[in-house]
Parts: sequence; structure tokens; C-alpha cells
Amino acid sequence: MEVILQPNEEAAAALVARIVAHELRTNPHLVLGLATGKTMERVYRRLVGLHKDEHLDFSLCSTFNLDEYVGLFPSDPNSYRHYMEHHLFRQVNIDPRNTHLPNGMATDLEAECRNYEALIHRFGGIDLQLLGIGKAGHIGFNEPLSALRSRTRVKALTPTTLKQNAAGFGGEDKVPRRAITMGVGTIIEARRCILLATGGSKSEVISQAVEGPITSMVTASALQLHPRCTVIVDEAAAAGLKEKDYYRWIFDNEPEWQEYR
Ligand code: F6R
Repeated sequence: MEVILQPNEEAAAALVARIVAHELRTNPHLVLGLATGKTMERVYRRLVGLHKDEHLDFSLCSTFNLDEYVGLFPSDPNSYRHYMEHHLFRQVNIDPRNTHLPNGMATDLEAECRNYEALIHRFGGIDLQLLGIGKAGHIGFNEPLSALRSRTRVKALTPTTLKQNAAGFGGEDKVPRRAITMGVGTIIEARRCILLATGGSKSEVISQAVEGPITSMVTASALQLHPRCTVIVDEAAAAGLKEKDYYRWIFDNEPEWQEYR
């Protein structure tokens, strides 16, 4: 795992977008794993900006989102399909046929989960997976106690997550109780993972995920097992990290990061 500290959330999001742009320019057929949520909105804004200002080309890439609520139509303003259309897909030149999210309205949800896994496999696996982290320590909707080898499946959302996501629904009681999510095992098979966390509300969970033990109670901690995972945090989210100087030293000295410093 590498940890990169940035002065604020805008700089952190800009760095994530630059890495995505670099990967996309290197491999126009990139299979990109996407996350939703507040944190990612800035990243998508940046990517849209790079598309408009620097002709960043999405025409050949494919995307797979981490998760979708069960019981919401894609047209529902709270669905993750709607979020993605609004924040990214409709604003860049991506081929809509290459964008994938689990179907939370499928009549057979188990079959939907199996098919999603099979589809990722058919596309050759995910090259770069973007991740946020929930206050419950989740990646995707892998809530505490999710098996670290879990695959795409339906998960019940914990009270912490229902609360975190309540705003758009007009109350906790209106948030769907279940979601389809890639499993922890699915996520850590991606060839590269980037986790972005910003803001003081994420500082405790970030220090658990990065410096704590690997535990299914904080599923983001499973990223410690990943051979190529970068955690990008702003100063507020980094507040609880004990080894900040060490992470800064690596970023300042590692040749891989030269063009991003
Ligand atoms: C969303 C997802 C979640 C979020 C996480 C952080 O697709 O997979 O894990 O990334 O809950 O959400 P925000 O950014 O809203 O704090």
C-alpha cells in the first residue's frame, strides 16, 4: 500500500483524476472500476474537465461500478446508474454500451450477481478500480464482517451506512435496505486500486484501514493485501495516521510519483 497526502480535497481529487487520465492514455481500452458517493463527485468533475480541455478520450474504455441499490429503477435520481449518467457518462464520449452497473431491479438477484462477475471476467478483469471508504470502513457496500474473499452479492446495509447515505433520500428510513455490491474478493482482484478519502469524518476509519490489522470489521483493510493499492487522502482524512512523515518521504522519493509531485 502507498499513502499519498494532499493538502486539501480538491488536490486529492485532482491527483486521482490525473492517474486515471494517465492510465487511459496508456491503454485506451482500459477497464475502469468506478465508485459513487460524495467524494468521487470531484474526481468526475475533473475527468469531465480533462475530456473537454485536453480531449481525454473515453470512447474505447469500459466501466464497471462497484454497487447499486436493490429496488431502485435506473431512472431513479438516487440510483447509482443515475449518479453515473449525471456526473460522468453523459458528459464524456464513453459508449453507453460499455458502462456497467449491477441491476438492482433484477427479478433474480442472485443470478444478476453471478452474471456481473462473469461479465467482469469476460472483459478481462478490472484494470483500475476507484474506491471511496464509508464511515463503517466499507469499500463498495462490503459492510463490517463481509468475508474478505466475498464475491458480488446482495448485502444488507448497516445503520451507519443508512445514516451516511440518507441525505438524498430525505431520511434514513427511505434508504433502500439492501444493495448489490462487488465483493471484497472481487475488488482486490483489480490490477490496480486507488482509494480516495477526504474530510475529517473519514480520519478514524482511514487510520484503521491503513495502519490497523486486516479485519473484516473494516473491509477497506483488505487492501493491505493488494499488490498495487494507492490510498490518496487530504490532510483532514490523514489526521489520525501515525506514520505521515514516512508516507511523505516515500511520495517524495519514489521515482514512480515523479510526474505527480
Ligand atoms: C459507492 C461506494 C461506497 C462509497 C463510500 C463513501 O459506490 O462504493 O463505498 O465510496 O460509502 O461515500 P462518500 O464518498 O459519499 O463518503
